[in-house]
Amino acid sequence: MSLLLLIKRKMQSLQEKAAEWSGVAQEDAFAIDETNLYLKLGHQTFVDLSTEFYNRVFADDQTWFQSIFANSRKEDAIQNQYEFFIQRMGGPPLYSQRKGHPALIGRHRPFPVTREAAERWLQHMEKALDSVSKIDSDSKTRMFNFFRHTAFFLVAGNEMTNQQQTGGDNVQRK
Ligand code: HEM
Repeated sequence: MSLLLLIKRKMQSLQEKAAEWSGVAQEDAFAIDETNLYLKLGHQTFVDLSTEFYNRVFADDQTWFQSIFANSRKEDAIQNQYEFFIQRMGGPPLYSQRKGHPALIGRHRPFPVTREAAERWLQHMEKALDSVSKIDSDSKTRMFNFFRHTAFFLVAGNEMTNQQQTGGDNVQRK
């Protein structure tokens, strides 16, 4: 099998797991692409969303979750996130201009992206979405479905890379 085909199959299986575990079908997750949310909501809305999100994360009384972010500066984390969101939701490619390809699975590799962590991340994000009044309910639904699906895509990616690290090559054997 060619390497390209192998990568394509692996991505497909991660997407399937993401849909199953998140409960969000792929087409709902990518409903963010049917409308330009960046033009609709404006730059500052994304800055506000990421600020609200990370204010909650860094103040989380559940230390197991907060400590995942212990090596990050809040200001950097906010900028990384809103630049990615802006680029992904129809705005200029600010993230890639500064940091290159998002490669989210690879960039989350140092962190324990478990199902519990995904649920906690999503709780903070849902509250952050609710706190930014410029985000109307249709946009909120689209964004939250994308976040939920992506969070579990990262969980699936994390499990895959852990299997590889521990030498369990059952991905290939099955
Ligand atoms: C599932 C639970 C998740 C956990 C535990 C997690 C954890 C983290 C941590 C610890 C960082 C480093 C913070 C920084 O310095 O930027 C990070 C960065 C980032 N995360 Fe997540 N994340 C999760 C889900 C997501 C989701 C769902 C998205 C996108 C929809 C996302 C997008 C990003 C981006 C774009 C960065 C910046 C990466 C970089 O430039 O290095 N994350 N995440």
